Amino acid sequence: MTLTADQTVEALRAAGEPTRLRVLSLLAAEELSVMELSRVLDQSQPRVSRHLKLMADAGLIERFPDGARVFYRLSHDAQARRLIDTVLDLLDDGEGEADHRRLDEVRKERAIDAARYFEQVAPQWDKMRSLYVCESAVEAAVERAAGPGPFQRVVDLGTGSGRMLTLFGKKAKMSVGLDLSQNMLNIARANVSKAGLDKVELRHGDIFSTRLPPASADLVIVHQVLHYLADPAAAVAEAARVVSDGGKLLIVDFAPHAFEHLREAHQHRRLGFADAEIREWLEEAGLTPSAPIALPPDTEGLTVHIWTGERVVQTARKTA
Ligand SMILES: C[S@@+](CC[C@H](N)C(=O)[O-])C[C@H]1O[C@@H](n2cnc3c(N)ncnc32)[C@H](O)[C@@H]1O
Repeated sequence: MTLTADQTVEALRAAGEPTRLRVLSLLAAEELSVMELSRVLDQSQPRVSRHLKLMADAGLIERFPDGARVFYRLSHDAQARRLIDTVLDLLDDGEGEADHRRLDEVRKERAIDAARYFEQVAPQWDKMRSLYVCESAVEAAVERAAGPGPFQRVVDLGTGSGRMLTLFGKKAKMSVGLDLSQNMLNIARANVSKAGLDKVELRHGDIFSTRLPPASADLVIVHQVLHYLADPAAAVAEAARVVSDGGKLLIVDFAPHAFEHLREAHQHRRLGFADAEIREWLEEAGLTPSAPIALPPDTEGLTVHIWTGERVVQTARKTA
C-alpha cells in the first residue's frame, strides 16, 4: 500500500518542524510519557503536548493513556513508519544526539531506582507478591494455561525469587531463571534448592537481551515483569524469540488500573496492559495468541490477566 499525495503532504507537514523531528527520533528509541519528553526536550508540557497532538492527528504517532499519564509511541502503520524511518535516516544533527544523551540519563536514573528497589524488596518479595492479587488462583490459572507438560526447558524471564521455577520445577526437564537483581537471584537459588530442584540454572541477565538461544524453550514465562519495563514490546519480542516450535509464551500482568501510587512506591512504569496491546505484540513476534484469561481480585486488589502466545508449527497449520 502507498500513501496518497494528500496523505503524504499532511504527514510531512506534521513532521516538518524541528521539535517534532526531535520527538520522532526519541519515540523511535522507546515509548515515552509527555512528562519524560518534556524533560528530555527541555520544553514545557503544554508545548510538547501541542506538537504531539499534531503528529497524532496526522497518524505519525499513537497516544495511549496509562492511569493519569499519557504515553506516546510511533505509529504501527507500515506506511507511516516508512515515512518516519526515511525522514530519520536523513537526519544528521547534533541536537538529536544531545536529546538521546539526555534520554540515556533519564533511562539510567530509572534503571538505578528500579535496581535499588528490587535489591531492597528481594527479601520480602514472596510476601509482597500476594498484596494485590490472589496468588493461589493466579498460579492455578498459569498452570492450566501452560498445559500439562512435561516441558523440555522452561525459561522464566525476570524470575525474582523464582516462584515460577518452583511452580513448574517438577514438570520441567530443566529450567532457566534470569534476572537483573543479584539479591533476587540469591533468594531464587535458596528457594529452588529448598524445593529440591537440581536442574535449574539461575542467570544474571537482561530481559531485553537474554543471550538465550533462539527457539530453545517450550515454555517461556514473563510473570509480573512487563509493568516495570520501559519497552515492554521489545521484551515480548525477545521472550518470543526463545519459544520453540509448538512452545508457548505466558505473560502474566495487570489489566489496566488506576493505582497511581504504584509508580512512586513500587517503581511501576505502566499501570497494566490492554488485551489488544499484548495481542498485537504477540502477533508481531510471530506467536498465535489465545483468548486472555482474567483473574479479578477477591476484594480491592488488581485484576491479573494471563496472555498466551503459541509458536504454531507451520505444517500443523496447513493440515488443520
Ligand atoms: C515484580 S518482580 C517479579 C518476579 C517474579 N517473576 C514473580 O512474579 O515473583 C520483577 C522482577 O523483574 C526483574 N527485572 C526488572 N527489570 C529486568 C530486566 N530488564 N531484565 C531482567 N529482569 C528484570 C526484577 O529484578 C524483579 O526480580
